[in-house]
Amino acid sequence: MTSTGERLALLGGTPAVSRPLPHEIWPPRAEQSELAALAAQRNDDISIKGSSGPVRELEDAFRAFLDHQVRWAITFNSGTSALLAAYFALGVREGVEVVGPALTYHAALSPVHALRGEVALADIDVRTRGLDPDSLERTLTERTKVITVVHQWGHPCDMDAILRIADKHRLRVLEDCSHAHGSRYKGKLCGTFGDAAVFSLQANKAVFAGEGGILVTNDDGVHDRATLLGHYRDRSRDEVVDQELRQYWVTGFGLKLRMSPFNAIVALHSLAAFPERKQARHSALGYFGERLAEVDYIEPMPIDDEVDMGAWYGYKPLFRPEEMPGVSRTALISALRAEGMEVGAPSGPRLSTLPLYAGAESPLFPGIPKAANAPIAGSVAELVEQRALSLPTFTEWPADKDLIDQYIAAFQKVGRHRTALAEHAAASG
Ligand SMILES: Cc1ncc(COP(=O)(O)O)c(C=O)c1O
Repeated sequence: MTSTGERLALLGGTPAVSRPLPHEIWPPRAEQSELAALAAQRNDDISIKGSSGPVRELEDAFRAFLDHQVRWAITFNSGTSALLAAYFALGVREGVEVVGPALTYHAALSPVHALRGEVALADIDVRTRGLDPDSLERTLTERTKVITVVHQWGHPCDMDAILRIADKHRLRVLEDCSHAHGSRYKGKLCGTFGDAAVFSLQANKAVFAGEGGILVTNDDGVHDRATLLGHYRDRSRDEVVDQELRQYWVTGFGLKLRMSPFNAIVALHSLAAFPERKQARHSALGYFGERLAEVDYIEPMPIDDEVDMGAWYGYKPLFRPEEMPGVSRTALISALRAEGMEVGAPSGPRLSTLPLYAGAESPLFPGIPKAANAPIAGSVAELVEQRALSLPTFTEWPADKDLIDQYIAAFQKVGRHRTALAEHAAASG
């Protein structure tokens, strides 16, 4: 207790945050126009086989969203399906290696295993939280064919350096933009740098369908093979460019991964609402970042000068344990939660700790050896995994300003009581 009588909420004091949980409310509720469009679609067409109706509208709107910098936009029933199609189209198969970041959402790379390919993990950069170009170059082998960049939390990767490496080694680049709707690197939109890009439209994303994904590319060969993998019949017949490949239109290459029109309608409405929501998130998180600089034991998320954070998909600052001797991240999270904050450790460990990545033999295709991804010793990925905090993205502005101020007050209060918190943590073992 301080001389003012203030006490940590964890130790029986009054919480610093008064607004009841939840603080992160996403996805936003549908407006009447969206509900009416969904109802009308029910009696119009509930299975769109080609590229027409709301599916076509979404693909056209997405190309416009990417400043018409991509020739093709193909919808899928999830981001994971779109990634599977992208890897297939980029030539991943047995004996082919993909290099990707050691700490990201697993689905960015997991479909490689279904194609009998191998994944090699490179370290991340603490600023961008995406691939570290030096580590990437060290990880390449003669089997590497594809580099997967994930613009983690919406912060674009160091694309100049990565594209230089890809060019030098003649590698293909896949951008996973699932966190980076609307993000820009040096003015250019994420999703327009690589040979292909995928955006998840799952419910948590800034532009959401509920379940859905979209693959964009300027490469007709990638378009044709991705289309055939996931869209047999009408769409393959009408859109596959290569005559030789088009002969497979009846069967495609065996899978049906297309988006439902209902998901396309939801996505169209969230895409239309995105610019305003993006503005609100930028204002709220810009303010939050500035205020967090006042908290000595937290490192706010850095944003490089040449970057526009677009969707601002997540807010994951780092804990500085050296400023709080005797307090672990877990103990800190307990104290902050007791103060009424919505805070946790980000989900998703380093991929090297997951059995699909760590084993030396493929569990899908026994007998096929695969790279056993040992954790990278002393890596940035490990540091970020151990120190990051997950905080709300505060979607309402200016309505959330008071809540942000309360979060800062809670951080500061816990900071003032760091000795009591360390003592409590030691006593609780
Ligand atoms: C970086 C990244 N890639 C891929 C995916 C997979 O997308 P989906 O859930 O639409 O299959 C996600 C989903 O969270 C993701 O965050």
